[in-house]
Amino acid sequence: MDKNRNIKWHKAKVTKKDRWMQNAHRSALIWITGLSASGKSTIATELERSLFVDKINTFVLDGDNVRHGLCKDLGFSAESRKENLRRVGEVAKLLVDAGVLTIAAFISPYAADRDSIRSLFGADEEEFIEVYLKCDLSVCEQRDPKGLYKKARAGEIPQFTGISDPYDEPAAPEIIIETDRLSVPDSVDIIISHLKARKII
Ligand code: ADX
Repeated sequence: MDKNRNIKWHKAKVTKKDRWMQNAHRSALIWITGLSASGKSTIATELERSLFVDKINTFVLDGDNVRHGLCKDLGFSAESRKENLRRVGEVAKLLVDAGVLTIAAFISPYAADRDSIRSLFGADEEEFIEVYLKCDLSVCEQRDPKGLYKKARAGEIPQFTGISDPYDEPAAPEIIIETDRLSVPDSVDIIISHLKARKII
């Protein structure tokens, strides 16, 4: 039986575009993908702070944080990562509908999962901005801020991205930032310039 057959969509009286007008900026999803320790959370929080100071409604969805609540029942198998990102994509979609310039920081190693999230958003409005933090595995492993690479190498963490699990490099991301060469402020500036060029802010 179709579980959804007795539910219908209620149309809002305030639209996303009404919110864009009131906020004086558009909303979108900035999807930051990359290996563990490539700088996703650091860049996401610095970007959020910078946008907030400029009076922009913004919010970060972060992999580690979301896995404390909404996704705490999920692990790191391909199926679990897919479900993790499906939930996050739906939450992000609601935030974008609410007019929030949303920043998501997830390893999101599978291209198919990232593309599913992209398909939730309007291509015409350029609402999905994929940002690939390109950072050599050896640099991520050297940084190892949480000591996870060390544990993964020792066989203590199975299915660790980059070590015993794959990472599909984005084929056509809107932005590529080489975080093994650029500083955090420079990385944030690249994203802000893109948002300005697209007239999102
Ligand atoms: S994703 O693959 O589903 O997108 P997500 O970004 O939510 O991953 O979570 C990644 C975080 O979980 C990492 O920053 C790391 O702290 C932790 N983690 C624990 N186990 C793993 C693992 N096997 N692979 C990758 N990250 C892991």
